[in-house]
Amino acid sequence: MTQTNLLTKTIIIDRWTLSDIDCLAIGAFAPLAGFMGEEDYHAVVETMRLASGAVWPLPVTLAVDEAKHGTIQVGERVLLRGEDGVDYAILHVESSYRPDKRREAQQVFRTTDLEHPGVKKLMQKGEVYLGGPLEYLQRPVPEQFADYYLTPTQTREIFQQKNWKTIVGFQTRNPVHRAHEYIQKAALETIDGLFLNPLMGETKSDDVPAVVRMESYLALLENYYPANRVLLAAFPAAMRYAGPREAVFHAMVRKNYGCTHFIVGRDHAGVGDYYGTYDAQHIFSEFEPEELGISLLFFEHSFYCKSCEGMATTKTCPHDKSQHVTLSGTKVREMLRNGIVPPPQFSRPEVAKILIDGLSEKVRKA
Ligand code: ADX
Repeated sequence: MTQTNLLTKTIIIDRWTLSDIDCLAIGAFAPLAGFMGEEDYHAVVETMRLASGAVWPLPVTLAVDEAKHGTIQVGERVLLRGEDGVDYAILHVESSYRPDKRREAQQVFRTTDLEHPGVKKLMQKGEVYLGGPLEYLQRPVPEQFADYYLTPTQTREIFQQKNWKTIVGFQTRNPVHRAHEYIQKAALETIDGLFLNPLMGETKSDDVPAVVRMESYLALLENYYPANRVLLAAFPAAMRYAGPREAVFHAMVRKNYGCTHFIVGRDHAGVGDYYGTYDAQHIFSEFEPEELGISLLFFEHSFYCKSCEGMATTKTCPHDKSQHVTLSGTKVREMLRNGIVPPPQFSRPEVAKILIDGLSEKVRKA
């Protein structure tokens, strides 16, 4: 065990970086063993692969400002301390380099527009990246739902105990609605188990808070899913809003959790109009199936059709748009904030209630 009191240098890390450290620590970001060095970083930005050739589409980096960088040498070990004063890890600094952030933004987010939340975050970070392996001291303790923060080792064990041979992973950062349920259940018709893995790290401020979303998932599972076919677990990562590249990243991470399949629907991990509706599906054609090591289940934009009297997509429904119940995320959030229950064709009433209560709670606390 390292004597942390012998280490004199400290970097204060924000919640975003702490999420990355947690994902690295539990093996969710395997094969990464720490923050990317220069060689891996350039390979990832330019080719969506690590220097070894393994598929990895997003940089996982530790940024520091010039002043902090001036005090740290390659070869040193540095404590990574949370804003709460807790030491979470030790970085063995193996490289320090200056990224071309505009290039990174263009490659990763397909835009350099500062209105894009991922680009904005990137541009606000320090100018120097420190790379190297990590030694983990302790996992962050979540305020709620701690039992759901399973490690990939634990989820793989559970899948084995349940004797699931095929497992489909589902990523989400939004309140659960009928379209989510539809595509999950469509997958469950042929796959042994569903791994529901809502993202719990930082999201943009107008997204519904993670704990409220988690509560809505619990209500949905209790009322509408067979308990022995689903495992719900928290995904501690932060949201990047990198659309297509993040879809590949989400798939790679769910493979680490033990999934054999992964769902990608419409505008996966997208924000605003930065990505085409199915760009996050098209990107997978840039890889060979063997190097991905996980099968993709692509779904069209799904909706409730009043004439069909059920959920459908344009692949299965012959009726025109006037029959389709669709609501944008922004519209739903606005309705919920105003205490308006979305139609049952869009959201299960049990879920809508939790979202409305949760959001009014948030407004009260703000
Ligand atoms: S995401 O940023 O985590 O992708 P979200 O929670 O909205 O956001 O989506 C979770 C998954 O469901 C993604 O794969 C997304 O493409 C898919 N999805 C969301 N809404 C729909 C819909 N109406 N039709 C088809 N797929 C959808």
